[in-house]
Amino acid sequence: MNTKIYTITNPQKQADELREAAQFIKCGEIVAFPTETVYGLGANALDGHAVKKIFEAKGRPQDNPLIVHITEIEELYPLVKEVPESVKRLTEKYWPGPLTVILPKSDIIPPEVSAGLDTVAVRCPSHPVARAFLKAAGVPVAAPSANISGFPSPTAFKYVYDDMNTRIPAIIDGGDCDFGIESTVVTLATDPPRLLRPGAVTLEQLREVLGEVYVDPAVLNPLADGVKAASPGMKYKHYAPKAEVSVVRGNKKEFIEYVNSHPTDADTILCFEGEENDMPLPCVTMGRADEPLTQSHRLFDALRELDETGAKHVFSRAPSEKGVGLGVCNRLYRSAAFRFLNDIKSTVIGVTGGTGAGKSTVCGELERNGAAVVDADRIAREVTEKGSPVLKKLAERFGSDIIAPDGSLLRHKLAEIAFSSAENTRDLTNITHPEIIKRCRAEVDALRGKYSLILLDAPLLFTSGLDKICDKTVRVTSPESVRISRIMKRDGISEDEAKKRAAAQTEEERLAENADITIDNTDHFVIPKSELT
Ligand code: TXA
Ligand code: MG
Repeated sequence: MNTKIYTITNPQKQADELREAAQFIKCGEIVAFPTETVYGLGANALDGHAVKKIFEAKGRPQDNPLIVHITEIEELYPLVKEVPESVKRLTEKYWPGPLTVILPKSDIIPPEVSAGLDTVAVRCPSHPVARAFLKAAGVPVAAPSANISGFPSPTAFKYVYDDMNTRIPAIIDGGDCDFGIESTVVTLATDPPRLLRPGAVTLEQLREVLGEVYVDPAVLNPLADGVKAASPGMKYKHYAPKAEVSVVRGNKKEFIEYVNSHPTDADTILCFEGEENDMPLPCVTMGRADEPLTQSHRLFDALRELDETGAKHVFSRAPSEKGVGLGVCNRLYRSAAFRFLNDIKSTVIGVTGGTGAGKSTVCGELERNGAAVVDADRIAREVTEKGSPVLKKLAERFGSDIIAPDGSLLRHKLAEIAFSSAENTRDLTNITHPEIIKRCRAEVDALRGKYSLILLDAPLLFTSGLDKICDKTVRVTSPESVRISRIMKRDGISEDEAKKRAAAQTEEERLAENADITIDNTDHFVIPKSELT
C-alpha cells in the first residue's frame, strides 16, 4: 500500500491538506496523527468495520479496547450513558489534555471499539494538529498508539513511519510529541474511581477533583496469576526493547556501587541526564533526575535508542514515583518486565515542627535529591473524604453542620467546633488519628526497599507515636515572629488568626525537643546529610 505523508506545521494555513487527510477517515480508512502524548492510529469510532483495520495494521489483540478522541466536552454526551458531576468537573479542568475517562458506554459505540466491554474510554486531545484533523473528520475517532503492538508508543514521526509505512494509507507528521507517554486513564465506572494508567495528569491532580481514587495494583506491579486485568492493555507485555532492562534502586552513589559490584551483568546504563560522566558503562539518558516531565518526554525514545546501540543487558536508574514520575515508572517497569535487582536499605526520618516552621521546604529539598516523602497532612485530608467512615463518625459526634450539601467536609466548621473545648479536641483526635496513623505506616512500608531515604512529614510526629517507626527524627524550627508572618502570607489570614494557629500544637513542641536533629529554617537552612543516614 502506498502511504501518503502530510507534513503539517501550521494547521490553519494547511486546512486543505488536513481536510484531504480527514477524507480517509470519512471513507472508512485509517490515518496516523500526532497528539500531545504519542501518535495515534485513528478510524471512525462509529464504524466497526473501519475500526477493525486498526487492529489489523497494529497486530493488536482483539480484546484490547480503544480510546475515542473528540474535540469538545459536549461530544462526550452521546458516547456514554451518563456524565456524572465529577466527570464534568474533571473534564472542565483537564480537557483538552492528556486525560482519558472511562464511563458506561451508549449503544452507538460498536463492540470493536470497546472490545465487548460495556464501557468506553474517551479523550479530548490538546495538540493543535490533532484538533484540526479531528474537526475536519467530523466524527469521534477511535485511536490506539500508532505502533506495532508490543513496541514503544511512537513519540515522533520517524517511529510511526518505521512501524506503519506501507501498512496504512496516510500519516500526518506533526513533529515531536510533548509528553511522550500516553494519556492518564481513569475509570469512573467504578466507585471510587480507579487509576488504570498514570500519565501527565497526575494521581494527585485527580484526587484534588475526585476525592478518593484507587490506584490499580497493575500500575506498579506485574499482574498476579489468575487476576483479571481492569484494563485489558495491562496484561500485555509492553514497550519492550530488545535489550533486557533491569532496574537498580538507590541514589546515584548506590547505583554505581551496584554496577561496579556486578561488572559483567550489564553492557549499558539507562541513567539521568548529567550523570553520564560518573557512570562506569556506556549510557543512554532518560531526562533529568528531578524533572519527571523531561523523563516522560525522553523515555520511549531512550528505549528505542537502546536497541539502536545494540545493548543486550541494561541497568536502569529508578525514577521517583511521584507526580508524572508515576507514569514514567509504570512504563519503565513494564519495559523491564518488573525486574528489580536490589532492595535497598531504607532510613525513615520523621520530620516535625510547628506550622510555618518550614518543614515542607526542608522535605521538598530532600525530595528533589531523591528522597520519598509521606505527607501526614495530605493523609489527614484523605481520611475525611466524602463518604469515608471517619467523616461519618465526625458528623455523628459534631453534628451534620460540618458536612457541605455535596457531602464533603467543611474544614473551617469542623475546626471551629473541634477546637472550642479541650474535650472536643480530644474527641477529634480519637476519631481521626487511628486511621491517619494506620495509613502513614502503610505508605512508609510500601516505600521501604525502594528509597534509601523516606521522610515522614508529620506535624504531630511525637504526639501520635509515629516517631516509633522512624530511625531518626528531625525538628524544623523558626522563631515565632517568622512563623507568624509565613502563616499570614501562606493562608491569607490576619496576625491574630496566625498567632492562634502558631500557638496550637504546644504539646508537640515540647516533645519535639527530643528530636535527634534540629534544623533551623529562619531564612535559609543546611541539611546535615551525613547525620541523616
Ligand atoms: O495518549 C493516549 O491515550 C494515546 C493517544 C493516541 O491518544 N492512545 C493510547 O491508546 O494510548 P492505547 O490503545 O495504546 O491505550 C489505551 C489503553 C489500553 O491499555 C486499553 O486497554 C485501555 O486504555 N482501555 C481502553 N478502553 C478501555 C475500557 N473501556 N476499559 C478499560 N480499559 C480500557
Ligand atoms: Mg498503546
